Amino acid sequence: MAEERPTIESCTNESGQQVVTLSHSSGATATIYAFGATVTDFTTASGRQVLWTSSKAKLDGTKAIRGGIPLAFPQFGQPDKRMAQHGFARISTWELVEEPSVSVSEIEDAAVCVFKLNPAMGTHEAWPFAYEAEYVIAIGAETMVNTLSIRNTGDEAFSFQCLIHTYFNIQDITTTTVTGFQGALVYDKIGETPDECSPDGNQLITIDGNVDRVYVPEGIDAPLEDPCVINTPGGNISVGRTALYVDAEGGARNLPVDTVVWNPWIEKAAAMADFEEGGWQRMLCVEPGLVNGPQTCEPQAAIALKQVIRAE
Ligand code: BG6
Repeated sequence: MAEERPTIESCTNESGQQVVTLSHSSGATATIYAFGATVTDFTTASGRQVLWTSSKAKLDGTKAIRGGIPLAFPQFGQPDKRMAQHGFARISTWELVEEPSVSVSEIEDAAVCVFKLNPAMGTHEAWPFAYEAEYVIAIGAETMVNTLSIRNTGDEAFSFQCLIHTYFNIQDITTTTVTGFQGALVYDKIGETPDECSPDGNQLITIDGNVDRVYVPEGIDAPLEDPCVINTPGGNISVGRTALYVDAEGGARNLPVDTVVWNPWIEKAAAMADFEEGGWQRMLCVEPGLVNGPQTCEPQAAIALKQVIRAE
């Protein structure tokens, strides 16, 4: 019988970047770069490649990785022009925390690894706060759970946005649909009035051009905890998204989670040097986040944003 792989293996690529392989007893694996704590691959036990990463992605630490799951923090887009687009988390090197003792309720026997980021590793003078970010990546046979927690370790409140910027491998954009946003409010970032939202009446989202929308759950018909579902030619992928605010005394409340849906389509993809040719046909970003306005986190409080991906 073949020997089981260790749960966490770490190596260095030709550019000196730390690359972590997470292995589940079922045979499912994930690859994570310490740079940005970016997951670049999740292959399920049945061999499905759930994520899309551009073959032209820079993997040498000079640029945010194009594809997989970059993390946007502390801003989404570039409301503060002094800071990089999507913040500094995806271009900072996170620390792999050895031997984590974390259990993940969605997966019984998960393989888990944990990365940490703090101001000594990633910060900016435009956002000079005392924080600790923890990112837990857990995999099972056909499931991946990503939890990004931001704790305020200082003595003044701060505000931020964050986003789990997942690029899904959908094989063919022309036959892919997304459900789960009926009744949600939607901001069309590339429409004529990007700051105005309207209710989305579509039961089924189809993509036939450049799409860059933020779905806000206000008014949504379904319970907040219901996942949205990406229907691809290779099978469905469900994406659960939840967020929790835990105050300094341990009191917890749910936060509504926004979802960005993005595909750059032909021209915008061609303008990105790290976007592989024709890649726009094979990817769709469905990105859970707290982006519709900044979240305020009081001293010693924490906000945890969670994504649960299931290949079905
Ligand atoms: C999405 C944004 O989350 O990320 C888009 O809604 C943006 O507006 C896209 O173009 C990609 O951003 P970047 O910085 O990785 O090219």
